[in-house]
Amino acid sequence: RVVSELAKPVFFVGFMGAGKTSVARKLARTCGIASIDVDTYLERREGKRVKELFAEVGEEGFRAIETDVLRELAEKDPLLVSCGGGVVLRPENRALLAEKGYVVYLQVTADEAASRISDLSTRPLFQDLGTARATIEGRLPLYESVADAVVDTSGKSVSAIAREVRGVL
Ligand code: S3P
Repeated sequence: RVVSELAKPVFFVGFMGAGKTSVARKLARTCGIASIDVDTYLERREGKRVKELFAEVGEEGFRAIETDVLRELAEKDPLLVSCGGGVVLRPENRALLAEKGYVVYLQVTADEAASRISDLSTRPLFQDLGTARATIEGRLPLYESVADAVVDTSGKSVSAIAREVRGVL
């Protein structure tokens, strides 16, 4: 089955630095299907950066906007959607992902994630390695609970990950 025949949106989940955005973009280019990044869409809609939103309305305020955006994107024609790492925190988001789409969980370690993110200051919830490790650990069962497919990204290039994802769609 080719990806351009997607029956429902593909949601990429996983921790910051797992490669959700890059992999969705790569697949979009090679398969001729649109990709969209929840954070980018949200920043355009709100006219503010994620970092500013965290400072102004706090994590709860950000999560409310994120849920709103997710609902909007889930109704569009099937797309490759890269989600923010914390999308699985809200039960209503998990229900929506499971009901509306096919969920690909990209696994990454905190160390590798840190090495992939060029500017950690854009990620208010990625403070330091110790905290990131604990956050990943805490979120693991949530990522697993929504995943239709799991792809381990350690030591792999974006192209290699995208190829693997293609194989599970
Ligand atoms: C977050 C991940 C970020 C962004 C926000 C919060 C998280 O997205 O939504 O900084 O809670 O893990 P990326 O996973 O795309 O970096």
